[in-house]
Amino acid sequence: MSALVLFGTGSIARMAHHLFTHDSPHDVVACSVDRDHLDDGTVAGLPVVAFEEVATAYPPDQFGMFVAVGFRRVNRFRAARYAQAKAMGYDLVTYVSSRASIWPGVEIGDNTMVMDQVIVNPFVRIGNDTILWSGSHVGHESVVGDHCFISSHAAVSGFATIEDGAFLGTNCTIRDGITVARESVIGAGAVISRDTRQGGVYTAPQATLLPLASDRLPSL
Ligand SMILES: CC(C)(COP(=O)(O)OP(=O)(O)OC[C@H]1O[C@@H](n2cnc3c(N)ncnc32)[C@H](O)[C@@H]1OP(=O)(O)O)[C@@H](O)C(=O)NCCC(=O)NCCS
Repeated sequence: MSALVLFGTGSIARMAHHLFTHDSPHDVVACSVDRDHLDDGTVAGLPVVAFEEVATAYPPDQFGMFVAVGFRRVNRFRAARYAQAKAMGYDLVTYVSSRASIWPGVEIGDNTMVMDQVIVNPFVRIGNDTILWSGSHVGHESVVGDHCFISSHAAVSGFATIEDGAFLGTNCTIRDGITVARESVIGAGAVISRDTRQGGVYTAPQATLLPLASDRLPSL
C-alpha cells in the first residue's frame, strides 16, 4: 500500500478517491489544489494543501500523487499539473479497475485511470495521464497517447492512433487505422472514418424533434 495525495477536489477527484479507496492498495490521505482554490472544498473530509506547498507537507519520497482533473482546456490543465507534479519528484500512480479487461502485455503509463468495464485488446499502448471512462473500448494494436480523455462507450477500433490531448466523447466510433490528431475533440456519438485535423472539433448529427408529442405515438 502507498499513501497518495490527489490533485483536485472536484468530481474527478471524488471519483478517484472512491476508486482508489475501494479498489486499489493505495490510501488517499490528502488533496491539493492551486493556492487560490483552497476554499473550493474537499473530498471525503481530507486535508487540503496548496499545491505550491504540497512537497513540504507530503514529501515525494514518502507519498505518491494522482492528478485528478478532467478535460478542462482540452486536457491541457491536467497535463500542466501532471508535469509540475513530476518535476517535484512525485511518482504518479495509475489506477486500473479490477473490473476492466486488460490483456497481458498491454503497456499503460503513469497517472492513468482505467475504469470498470473498459476493454483493452492485446498489443495496445496507452500513454501517461490518460483517462479511460467506464465501458470504453480500445482495439488491438492501437496506440493512445498522453493526456487523452476517452469517455464511456467510445469505441476505438484496431490499429488506430489517438494522439496526445485528444478528447473522445461518449459513444463515438473511431474507424480502424485512423489517426485522431492531437487535441482533436470528438463529440458524443460522432463516427470518425478519416484522420482528423489537429485541434479539430467533430460532432454527430443531432437527433430530430418530431412534430408530435410522445402521447400521440401510436405504439407507446
Ligand atoms: C462537441 C462538444 C464537445 C461541444 O461541447 P461544448 O464545448 O460544451 O460546446 P456546446 O455544446 O455549447 O457547442 C458549441 C457549439 O457547437 C454546436 N454543436 C454542439 N454539438 C453539435 C452537434 N452535435 N451538431 C451540431 N452542432 C453542435 C452548438 O450548437 C454550439 O453552437 P452555438 O455556439 O452556435 O450555440 C459536445 O457537443 C459534445 O459532444 N461533448 C461530449 C459529451 C460527452 O461525451 N461527455 C462525456 C464526458 S464524461
